[in-house]
Formats: sequence, C-alpha cells, structure tokens
Amino acid sequence: MKAAKTSSGSGTRRSGADPASHTRTSRGQPQRLPSPPDLLLLSLATPAATQKLGRLLAAQCQGGDLIALQGPLGAGKTCLVGGIARGLGIAEAITSPSFALLNQYRGRLALHHVDLYRLHEPAELSELGLWEAAESGGLLVIEWLDRFPDAVPNDRLQVSLDFVSLGASGRTAEIRAAGPRSQARLLALSQQLSR
Ligand SMILES: Nc1ncnc2c1ncn2[C@@H]1O[C@H](COP(=O)(O)OP(=O)(O)OP(=O)(O)O)[C@@H](O)[C@H]1O
Ligand SMILES: [Mg+2]
Repeated sequence: MKAAKTSSGSGTRRSGADPASHTRTSRGQPQRLPSPPDLLLLSLATPAATQKLGRLLAAQCQGGDLIALQGPLGAGKTCLVGGIARGLGIAEAITSPSFALLNQYRGRLALHHVDLYRLHEPAELSELGLWEAAESGGLLVIEWLDRFPDAVPNDRLQVSLDFVSLGASGRTAEIRAAGPRSQARLLALSQQLSR
C-alpha cells in the first residue's frame, strides 16, 4: 500500500499535474505571443520573467553586439540588464547608471551598461566613452537610445518594454533586429524560446 501511494505521488509530480507549480514556473518565464518573423513579442508576467529574458539574450550575444532598451520610466529596462549580467556570469548588482551614465562589468563578455536619460547634447556622447565601449568587443546595452538614435550603428537588437495595461503589473517586450548581426541573434533567441 505504502509503495503504491509513493509511486502514484511521484508520477503526479513528473506529469506536471500540480497546477500551482505550473503557474509558478510559467510566470517566471517569457511567454511567446504570436509575432511576424522579424519581430518577437513576449509577455513578461513578473520581474523574474524579465530577468530570464535577459539571461536568454546574454546566452546568444557575442562580442561587439549592441542592445538598445526602450520603454517608459519603470518599464523594466534595468531589471532586464540585471538578467543579462547574470547570464554573462556577472555577480555584481546592476543599478541604473543614471549618474555615472556608463557602468562597466567583467563577465564572459565585458558588459557596458549605458543610460542616456540624463544626457542633454549629442556632443556629450563622445565624452561618455560610448565609441570606445562599442569597439571594445564587449556587449553594449543602452537604455534610452531612442533619445540619440544615431549614437551607435543601426545593426542592434531593439528591445521595447511596456506596461501590460494600467493597473496590471506585467510587462510586454517587443524585440526587433535591424541588420544581419542582430537578425542572427533574434533568430537564435526565437529558437531558444520555442524549445
Ligand atoms: N515583467 C515585470 N512585471 C512586473 N514588474 C516588473 C517586470 N519587470 C520589471 N519589473 C519591475 O519594474 C520596476 C522598474 O524596473 P526598472 O528600474 O528596471 O525600470 P527602468 O525601465 O529601468 O526604469 P527607468 O526608465 O527609470 O530607468 C522594478 O520594480 C522591477 O522589478
Ligand atoms: Mg533604468
């Protein structure tokens, strides 16, 4: 009797029939929404899902890649960078570089995290060391690049985060590519999410 009960219990867990545990798992995962081939649309129910997307992005990135993050204040851009950092093996906490403007971390790839929100003039971009960062062979991730869209080459993954709707806590992500390098990353990410 005892053996039969144990066997039946573990069979239930293996089959994933515990609805509560299924919900917990999927809320921490980016959920793919129907999207055309050049665009990836995702639902991110929780900050954990935003960070998981960051880890998946990091797994695909290669030295010299660019990621532009856009979306309103509080949309989750820095949270996503935190996931990217974890995915690159960086243990340090990621905070918004609003005052330093550019924070750099050592990982599988060097991570250059830039926030252009407080930048006033395009001329200030050169003082920031953005060119050096872009050419250093690391991964350059820029928040608010939409304020200075010509600051870096166009071939970049553009991740637009937004609130699901007023009063709801989740986020959506739209990921687009703008050239062969970023298209290759988008395809790899899309395949990874379909597994
Ligand atoms: N998918 C999500 N669902 C709910 N909350 C989220 C999600 N992703 C991130 N958040 C939360 O949103 C808040 C704001 O995140 P974050 O600071 O990363 O935003 P931001 O876009 O960088 O803001 P800013 O424009 O001020 O730089 C944080 O509390 C974060 O945990
Ligand atoms: Mg931020």
